[in-house]
Amino acid sequence: MTMAMSIAQFTFFSRATSSSFLNRTNARFNRFTFSTPFSTADATCTRKKNGRLPVLSALELGGVKIARDDVVRDDPTNNVPDSIFSKLGMQLHKRNQHPIGILKNAIYEYFDANYSNKFDKFDDLCPLVSVKQNFDDVLVPADHISRSYNDTYYVDSQTVLRCHTSAHQAELLRDGHTHFLVTGDVYRRDSIDSTHYPVFHQMEGFRVFSPKEWEASGLDGTSYAADDLKKCLEGLARHLFGAVEMRWIDAYFPFTNPSFELEIYFQEKWMEVLGCGVTEQEILRNNGQLDSVAWAFGLGLERLAMVLFDIPDIRLFWSNDERFTSQFTKGKMGIKFKPFSKFPPCFKDMSFWINESFTENNLCEVVRGVAGDLAEEVQLIDNFTNKKGMTSHCYRIAYRSMERSLTDEEINELQRKVREQVETKLNVELR
Ligand code: DAH
Repeated sequence: MTMAMSIAQFTFFSRATSSSFLNRTNARFNRFTFSTPFSTADATCTRKKNGRLPVLSALELGGVKIARDDVVRDDPTNNVPDSIFSKLGMQLHKRNQHPIGILKNAIYEYFDANYSNKFDKFDDLCPLVSVKQNFDDVLVPADHISRSYNDTYYVDSQTVLRCHTSAHQAELLRDGHTHFLVTGDVYRRDSIDSTHYPVFHQMEGFRVFSPKEWEASGLDGTSYAADDLKKCLEGLARHLFGAVEMRWIDAYFPFTNPSFELEIYFQEKWMEVLGCGVTEQEILRNNGQLDSVAWAFGLGLERLAMVLFDIPDIRLFWSNDERFTSQFTKGKMGIKFKPFSKFPPCFKDMSFWINESFTENNLCEVVRGVAGDLAEEVQLIDNFTNKKGMTSHCYRIAYRSMERSLTDEEINELQRKVREQVETKLNVELR
């Protein structure tokens, strides 16, 4: 799927950008048994047999101990692969010399300066959350596609890897917080291209107003909060991008009404920066805020960092290559990434007859499972149905390393494994 930056990952719930998410094919793993609640275990470390980076078998996140075997389970209610488990605990947003951490700190700086340190900051909340936290608490409808096994990583039927930082709104409200920023890694099953990666980082902002704050203004609470929200976020955009042109677009999110997206005119294109809105009263009421109004926003750190630091491929954020990591400095926003090498991609095509349960996300999971970050893009290049009603897809896989050139042998071996697993795991018939 080749998709412009303007509809990259963070707008999961927006109807306005439904082409990126809500319109996807709705295939899912339908029949499964509900079992095995999430439990915890002790920390140990094992090395993977295939020689890749070791996968920690347990780790501690936000005070919660998480064992590999609780997160990656051979069970129909679970769709978390090892490659995703190995990302838990990486917390790029907590690295002060990493573009994601530098950007987080720059946003903190804006809020601290303009709201005299009033916003409470959270960047260590556990990414394993309940279905209730991730969806129900923020009013995501029961039949919303984001709940499907095709789009979200389920640990078991009641536990997911959060797919947005909005999952923490309700608990923080209940804990009495009225001004807060939540930064964290979020997880979505997705396609493979230069702007999509199954783990990325978001920041959520939330501010509650009490009646006395808007009463004097002559405005109703909702208009007052909406005006304040827009002023706050326009200021943030100027803080990050300088004097840019901006526009507000009406949007839809289940948790806010009205809802908006902010776009800025940057490098000759309108680019979505964030989603936001005035929080649904039901969320406030359910969590102990009876007469208040509030605003909320959510922004994707990768897409902003890619533009601000000139980073051409989302996989680079995960690179440990010094030629990447050494280019960034704590506290410095103006730096532009200089590509250290450009190795050519290698393309491999594969065709197969799909079946009813086939989805592109499942294919991408197989490709990532075999090739990891060497998979640069998976693109559907041919699609036809024959007279018997059988549908054939041809996908072109681009393999490329950010760090070195790949040998033919290595790529052929990757492709051989991908073909084998596509056949056995997805039950499709190779052509
Ligand atoms: N959670 C949304 C997403 O992941 C982003 C978002 C939109 C967050 C609007 C908000 C909001 O708090 O008010 O796509």
